[in-house]
Amino acid sequence: MLAADVLEQLRELTVRARQRERVLGEWQMAGAASRRRGLTALFAGASGTGKTMAAEVVAGEMALDLYVVDLASVVDKYVGETEKNLDRIFVEAESVNGVLLFDEADALFGKRSEVADAHDRYANVEIAYLLQRMEMFEGIAILATNLRSNLDEAFARRLDTLIDFPEPEETDRLRLWDRCLGTAAPRAGDIDLAFLARAFKLSGGNIRNIAVAAGYYAAEAERPITMRDLVRATQREYRKLGHMVVESEFGEHYAALAGH
Ligand SMILES: Nc1ncnc2c1ncn2[C@@H]1O[C@H](COP(=O)(O)OP(=O)(O)OP(=O)(O)O)[C@@H](O)[C@H]1O
Ligand SMILES: [Mg+2]
Repeated sequence: MLAADVLEQLRELTVRARQRERVLGEWQMAGAASRRRGLTALFAGASGTGKTMAAEVVAGEMALDLYVVDLASVVDKYVGETEKNLDRIFVEAESVNGVLLFDEADALFGKRSEVADAHDRYANVEIAYLLQRMEMFEGIAILATNLRSNLDEAFARRLDTLIDFPEPEETDRLRLWDRCLGTAAPRAGDIDLAFLARAFKLSGGNIRNIAVAAGYYAAEAERPITMRDLVRATQREYRKLGHMVVESEFGEHYAALAGH
């Protein structure tokens, strides 16, 4: 249940992948981009907004495996090492023919804003190298980032597709709660999903975590999932995120929280 707009753009991405040979090859419509073989995309959005899930959808649609590469572990402080690491990844990826997802792209973009000039230029070299390898990769290569603002325009222009993953609105959150609790888990009669959706500005990933945690509370107590389970699990998720657990947000359910 990704946003309709996101789904539409994902569909376009797979259409491009499927029809690429005909349009760029047979119909010779590649123009100046004729060197390019791969399809490149950037998924931008806060944590838990469904970027990895969307990459899985794309891979599933193409009947390909998804390979996730954590860019944070690829970036190396020594000159030339990042490129060597990237090179290894692409050589391996080319032999398996899958969809490549570079997670934590901020690890590369972020560097530029933090360090001094000489290194600055160097980080740009690494980014340029990654882009070039992505473009030459015969398949779909996706970058995922939490920090859209770190991207410069020249970079964005070189990508085939740029998809923004919005934070869910109240109505989206209501559906997420319902979806994440599912139809198989027993629900107690006191569950108020409308309250949860309205009160807590959480992402799909947070809601999933909370629903699962509440499921464990209920399973261990051998009873259906209650509102209290969900509220307690929300409190836990808030702590994890470093959010304050304030009475005004939890309302009448605040009293159900232990330790307050
Ligand atoms: N719109 C959504 N609909 C249904 N489930 C969602 C949605 N968004 C996120 N989820 C669920 O939340 C979990 C986390 O989502 P996902 O890993 O795709 O987020 P992400 O954007 O990749 O986050 P991160 O930036 O932390 O990697 C997944 O288990 C996914 O099923
Ligand atoms: Mg992810």
